[in-house]
Amino acid sequence: MALAHPILDSKEIAAARASRTEGVPAWDAIANIEDLREVARKRVPKTFFEYVEAGSYDEITLAANRSALDALELRQKVMVDVSSRVQATTIVGQPVSLPVALAPAGLTGAVYPNGEIRAAQAAGAFGVPFCLSTMSVCSIEDVAAAVAKPFWFQLYLMKDRGFSRSLIERAHAAQCPVLVLTMDLHVEGQRTADVHNGLGIPPRLTLANVVDIAKHPRWAFGMLRSKEYTFGNLRDAIRNSGNLGILSEWVKQQFDPSFDRSDVEWVRKLWPGKLIVKGILDPQDAEIAVATGADAILVSNHGGRQLDGAPSTVEAFPAIRDAVGDRTELLFDSGIRSGLDVLKALALGARACFIGRAYLYGLGARGKEGVCKALSLISEELDTGMALTGVTDVKAVSRDVLVQPDE
Ligand SMILES: Cc1cc2nc3c(=O)[nH]c(=O)nc-3n(C[C@H](O)[C@H](O)[C@H](O)COP(=O)(O)O)c2cc1C
Repeated sequence: MALAHPILDSKEIAAARASRTEGVPAWDAIANIEDLREVARKRVPKTFFEYVEAGSYDEITLAANRSALDALELRQKVMVDVSSRVQATTIVGQPVSLPVALAPAGLTGAVYPNGEIRAAQAAGAFGVPFCLSTMSVCSIEDVAAAVAKPFWFQLYLMKDRGFSRSLIERAHAAQCPVLVLTMDLHVEGQRTADVHNGLGIPPRLTLANVVDIAKHPRWAFGMLRSKEYTFGNLRDAIRNSGNLGILSEWVKQQFDPSFDRSDVEWVRKLWPGKLIVKGILDPQDAEIAVATGADAILVSNHGGRQLDGAPSTVEAFPAIRDAVGDRTELLFDSGIRSGLDVLKALALGARACFIGRAYLYGLGARGKEGVCKALSLISEELDTGMALTGVTDVKAVSRDVLVQPDE
C-alpha cells in the first residue's frame, strides 16, 4: 500500500518531480553528477555536449559499463567504529587525496574555455591528478604555465615516431611525473552522434552547428578568450594546422594500427617517469604490459567509445586482477559516476579510478568550480559508502565490501 505524503498530495509530488526533471537544478541544490550533467547540457552547445556523452556505434558497451556497476551490491556493515575515515592513498607512488584521477579527454577545451587548464587547476586544488590528452585544445606548455602542481600526460602513439618522441620529451620538460600510454586506439570507433553533428573527420560546419552555438552565447563569448582553437599539442606538426579540417585529417592518418608490444617497449625506454598502460581488457594483454615494465594498468574500454560489444570494465576486471594483480597496480575506468561506484571498483581490486564524463559534466557546468564540485560529490559519496560498509581506510577496501554472487 502506498503511504500518503504528510504535506504534499500525490499530484503535487508528481508535479514537483516533473519540474525537477525538466528544469536545471540551482547550483546550491546540486546533489549528484547527474545534476551537473543537466547544468552542462544547458550550457554547452549540443555538438560538444553529445561529443562528451557519446559511445561508439550502438552504445552497447557504454550502457554495459553503467548496468554492471549498478548490479554490484555493497555489503552494509554496522558493528564497526568508523569515526575516522581516510581517503588519501597513492597512485603509482604519487600521493592523492582521493583514489581518483581525471582521465585524459580530447577537446576538453571545447567543453569550457581553456577547459584543460581549468580542470588541471581544480584537480591541483583537490589533490588528485589531472591527465592531459594528446588531443587536448590547450597544449602541454599552456597547461604547465598555468598550474602550480604537476599534471600527467596521455600519449597516443603516432605513425610519425619522431613526433611521438617529441611529445614524450615535451611532457618530460613540463615535469609530468606520469605518462599514460593509450593502447586501444589503433583505429577510431565511430561515435555516431559526432557524425550526425558534423564533428567527424574532417569536421563539417553546418547551419545547425551555427544555430547551436548562437543559442549558447555564454559558452561562445567565453571561447573568444581561449588560448587555442585547435589541437594545441599538434599545432607545429603540420603547416596550416589552424585549419581544424586539415589537422583532423592528419591526425586520422597518424593513428597507428601497427602499434604493438615493441612500441610499448620503445616508449618505456624513452620515458624516465612512471608509465601507465591504458585500455587493457584482456589478461594476456595485461601480462604483456607488465612484462614491458608498466608501473600500472588502467583497465578501460575508453568509456564505451571504442570497441562496441566489448565487456564492461566490471566484467573484464576480475580475470586481469587474477592474472597480474599481485605484480602491478590496477586502475579502473569507464562508467564511474559516483563515490559509491569508486568504492565498488576498489572492492574489485582497483587501486584507484579514472573519471571522464563525471568531471567533464562539472567542467561544462561551471569550469573549475564545477570540476571541484564533481570531486567533492564523489568524495562525500565515497565517505558515506565507506562508513556504512565498515571501512575506515580506502587502502583496506577488499572484496568483502561486495555481496558475492553466490551468497
Ligand atoms: C569526451 C571524451 C574524450 C576522450 N578522449 C580521450 C583521449 O584523448 N585519450 C584517451 O586515452 N582517452 C580518452 N577518453 C577516454 C577517457 O580517458 C576514459 O577512459 C573514459 O572517459 C572513462 O569513462 P567515463 O567517461 O565513463 O568515466 C575520452 C573520453 C571522453 C568521454
